[in-house]
Amino acid sequence: MSERFYITTPIYYVNDMPHIGHIYTTVMADIFARYKRLTGAEVRFLTGTDEHGQKIEKAAASQGIEPIQLADRVVARYHSLWKTLEISHDDFIRTSEDRHKRGVTEIIRRITAAGDIYEGEYEGWYLAADEAFIPDSQVKDGHDIESGRAVERLSEPSYFFRLSAYQEPLLRWYRENPDCIRPRTRYNEVLSFVEGGLRDLSISRTSLKWGVPYPGDEEHVVYVWLDALTNYISALGFGNDNEGPFEKFWPASMHLMGKDILRFHCVYWPAFLMSAGLPLPKQVFGHGWWLRDEAKMSKSIGNVVRPDYLIERFSADALRYFLAREMTFGQDASFSDEAFLERFNADLANALGNTASRTLSMTGRYLDSKVPAVSGNGPVPAAAAAAVASYLEHMEDCEPHRALEGAWQLLKAIDVHIQEQQPWARAKEGDAGRAALENTLYVSLEGLRITALMIEPFMPAIAKNLRHQLGVDDMPRNLGDATSWGGLAEGTAIGKTEPLFPRVDIKAYLKEVQMDTEKEATPKAAEDDLLSIDEFFKTKLVVGTIREAAQVPKSKKLVQLKVDLGEPKLRQLVAGIAERYEAEDLVGRQIVVVANLKPAKLMGVESQGMLLAANLEGAPFLLSPDAEVPPGTVVS
Ligand code: MSP
Repeated sequence: MSERFYITTPIYYVNDMPHIGHIYTTVMADIFARYKRLTGAEVRFLTGTDEHGQKIEKAAASQGIEPIQLADRVVARYHSLWKTLEISHDDFIRTSEDRHKRGVTEIIRRITAAGDIYEGEYEGWYLAADEAFIPDSQVKDGHDIESGRAVERLSEPSYFFRLSAYQEPLLRWYRENPDCIRPRTRYNEVLSFVEGGLRDLSISRTSLKWGVPYPGDEEHVVYVWLDALTNYISALGFGNDNEGPFEKFWPASMHLMGKDILRFHCVYWPAFLMSAGLPLPKQVFGHGWWLRDEAKMSKSIGNVVRPDYLIERFSADALRYFLAREMTFGQDASFSDEAFLERFNADLANALGNTASRTLSMTGRYLDSKVPAVSGNGPVPAAAAAAVASYLEHMEDCEPHRALEGAWQLLKAIDVHIQEQQPWARAKEGDAGRAALENTLYVSLEGLRITALMIEPFMPAIAKNLRHQLGVDDMPRNLGDATSWGGLAEGTAIGKTEPLFPRVDIKAYLKEVQMDTEKEATPKAAEDDLLSIDEFFKTKLVVGTIREAAQVPKSKKLVQLKVDLGEPKLRQLVAGIAERYEAEDLVGRQIVVVANLKPAKLMGVESQGMLLAANLEGAPFLLSPDAEVPPGTVVS
């Protein structure tokens, strides 16, 4: 029976568009999935989106839309990005799907039956950005010391999970399975964290509505991390009628994620699984963090690397290669345009692209585009065997960056061999040089065929292109027999030769990027992006006076307003401003309202317009006229 390999990425929050960090996790998971498929394993690869919780509810409210609308929008973006990046997932799970909710309900049923849940009252500092309560010691002046973000004091009835009871079982699991958490440094961190003691965990919330209803008590929704973690089994059919894939693929071979969320996966998740009587994942891998030019990437600094530009300019494969090659898997790395371009030129355009195009074009020129007789003289066959061995060893050992190094050693050996043998000189010697010429080109072509197999998990499109140019589209592609020397048959007609990667002029490119950045920074928009005055006046802006204001029940953020717009009836608005404004202070205040918006429902309450506020990192600052004017006065 072939090996079964179930690999997962974290499910991504839908409050933000994907950036290079999210892409990294998914690309690396895809590389492992593709690699395993090429070794003959039966692979299941899961990714998806984490759609519930306060963070998403807040982001949606600040945009004046329902959480599910926000989720749909971001999910569409993920789908198209994964397609562009050639991500070969077998399933995409959304936590808003019913199949997922059934999985969550079932895991809670099991944990409850095991006697691990009790009711209590939770009070603590809640960091909405992480969807987690954080310890008092981590809070100063209402802010999380580490991230500088504001925290809220929350107190609410809650169901608790007896996490404390799992301290010993968890420690036993870590100790008996030293590879269950990787890399080693992270294993040690988790171990000492758990040795320090575990407190029971609040697993439900009453303060928000956007989540999976808590089974049997609909006043509560399930804590977002319990909800989210369960995706790994709900997507396999756990809690649903069809338990086929679950039986087949659980436990996961590898949960891959960034180091920031390792603890949730190495402490909470295995504890939930133990309580529910389910097998534990074989490995949780926490990779490093991408920095931008050595600094932390952050939306507020504006230094987040967005992938579209790089993909458009250099191809998805080049980006995949860079991500996999530049970062020592498990450690942090810094993204810079210079590093990207240098690798692009040196590793891709030169080492791979040039070696391939030289070999192929000489085969065209000197051998009438036909593969010569199989041969194995010189150092290339041994270099190929060593490269494959090193590649396989490092892939199995989760060191993809080193596996690539192995493959590039082979390219180097081919290049050196061509340099030494000078096939162009042999060609001039006629019959006397024929044998040497044919041997050099055969070993180079065969070396390239083996290279194409090794790079396929990293650069599927380029590997395909290279195979096509070598004339071996239909040859078996596996990382077993197919990597043995001599697979390329005599007489094979090579395809049309074309460059794999055009070299980039680094200086010119950096200048281009700088000009683009400056263009973006100047307010002068392209002609097409400008509105005509008529278009602008389609938006009806008027001044309104707030007559009534009340907090929307169960919402921290939303207030319900009755606003006088000079019309016979007061307008009802729902606005996400409760965190900066007390409802009673709003009465009598004048605001600016978009009066001709389609009504929308926010947490079940209809909003018949939208008020305007300056938005500073999510905090609203209301706009008002600087002296009182009659309600209904037009703003223009
Ligand atoms: N929704 C949770 C995961 C729940 S899994 C049951 C979450 N989502 S996330 O969208 O914030 O992040 C997902 C992944 O992106 C994580 O693996 C995280 O480490 C990764 N990255 C986000 N920014 C990153 C970098 N700058 N560098 C590398 N990876 C980072 O957390």
